[in-house]
Amino acid sequence: MRGAAGCQSTGHDMLQAYEDSPYRTIQGRNAMISLKLQMLIGSGGSADVFRLDGGRVLKLYREGLDPGVIAREHDGVQHALGQGLHVARAFGTRDHEGRSGIIFEELVGKPLLRLPILRPFRTRALLRRFADYQARIHRCGAAGLPHAQHDIVHVRIEQAEVDPALRSLALERLHAIPRGDRFCHGDYHPGNVILTRGGIAAIDWSNASAGDPAGDVARSELLFRYAGYGPTMRRLPPMRRVREMTADFYLGHYRASTGLSEAAIDAWRLPIAVASLIPGSRVHRPTLVAALERQGFGV
Ligand SMILES: Nc1ncnc2c1ncn2[C@@H]1O[C@H](COP(=O)(O)OP(=O)(O)O)[C@@H](O)[C@H]1O
Ligand SMILES: [Mg+2]
Repeated sequence: MRGAAGCQSTGHDMLQAYEDSPYRTIQGRNAMISLKLQMLIGSGGSADVFRLDGGRVLKLYREGLDPGVIAREHDGVQHALGQGLHVARAFGTRDHEGRSGIIFEELVGKPLLRLPILRPFRTRALLRRFADYQARIHRCGAAGLPHAQHDIVHVRIEQAEVDPALRSLALERLHAIPRGDRFCHGDYHPGNVILTRGGIAAIDWSNASAGDPAGDVARSELLFRYAGYGPTMRRLPPMRRVREMTADFYLGHYRASTGLSEAAIDAWRLPIAVASLIPGSRVHRPTLVAALERQGFGV
């Protein structure tokens, strides 16, 4: 995907766009929008998403969620739009029955996760497009985005339920990696990518940051290998093998098309793994802990 179209606007344009539309000023602007929740169309770890009228959806965050996470999603989407990426536009914030929300354009299509994974040719083609879109995100600069990948990962490592020695090692390895200045999604997995008629589009920008693409890739790889795809996917050996092959194929394609080194990704693997051992993580803890222990880490 090396020669493919990258970001359309310059860092300066993006910075201006960001300064013109910060999260704070948009809050409250949508008080006049009538809100009629039509049906639940999706749920993830942090929110439920309802269809509204007019081709819009309301992403309603769970009660008690850190408002900083919602601000980060709004900032991430605005930044992605400013960079010319195909994403759902945000129309502003909206509270509903005590929960905070953001109104987005509805993307008509299906999350990649819901598409049949046992059709190898189709799956491979989709995985290539999945990796290509991520590489396109990474070609975008992140100037003006006030969230840093190192800080997000650092906080998660602090919150992880792990042995103090492993926490220290993860922090040490994290801070040995230089801070990056590329645009990173932060939670890029097939449940956060929708296949529309206009191509694929990423949703769920609540972990978006300025960072190192290798860290973003290490997180995607980890999710392919260890995120909760249900007990059947985890228990049946052929299904586990499919997951491993999927992870390897994704990684191979991303690396071949961008030239990213294995060593750069490997430097992130421990910090990212430990950061995912937080309460409420999407990762299947017993499987990841077993893998870390096989590598000699005491969790
Ligand atoms: N803009 C959108 N258009 C259509 N469907 C959406 C949109 N945003 C989210 N969804 C649906 O809602 C689900 C959960 O949204 P997501 O933003 O990933 O929430 P969470 O942060 O809880 O993971 C998605 O997997 C998708 O099915
Ligand atoms: Mg999601």
